Amino acid sequence: MSTQSYVKILNEWDIVAARQVGRNVAKELGFGTVDQARITTTISELARNIYLYAGQGEICIEKLWDNGRTGLRIIAEDKGPGISDIRKVMEDGYTTSGGLGAGLPGVKRLMDEFDIESEVGVGTKITTTKWIR
Ligand SMILES: Nc1ncnc2c1ncn2[C@@H]1O[C@H](COP(=O)(O)OP(=O)(O)OP(=O)(O)O)[C@@H](O)[C@H]1O
Ligand SMILES: [Mg+2]
Repeated sequence: MSTQSYVKILNEWDIVAARQVGRNVAKELGFGTVDQARITTTISELARNIYLYAGQGEICIEKLWDNGRTGLRIIAEDKGPGISDIRKVMEDGYTTSGGLGAGLPGVKRLMDEFDIESEVGVGTKITTTKWIR
């Protein structure tokens, strides 16, 4: 039984598709509507960043079962330019594109676990998890 779904992010329509997959998986797992919204917002922000800054990449949506807990993990991975100062991009209002700079700090607040691995010239991998409470 597969517990992972992958959506390639190549264009703006793929952002919508990834969001939809995320909503369906969250519903299947039993997340409430507020958490479903947190999860779909997270997927939108991460997929949009991939599209804007890396051009293309992939969103993986994974079902988790751990010690009686049920969760959903989102992994956003690209082979784009990478992030040189991770601390800076986690500050509210920091943007290199004239955006709000609210995406990544917002995602961190919406989810339970959040991690960025990034190397300049190699790419970025953001892993974030929500647990049902
Ligand atoms: N996948 C990525 N690859 C390279 N740089 C990234 C990536 N994701 C984010 N960044 C960098 O981190 C900065 C902050 O991202 P964040 O999503 O928080 O804000 P934003 O995209 O600039 O604005 P907003 O999301 O509010 O519209 C971006 O401006 C960009 O420089
Ligand atoms: Mg953003």
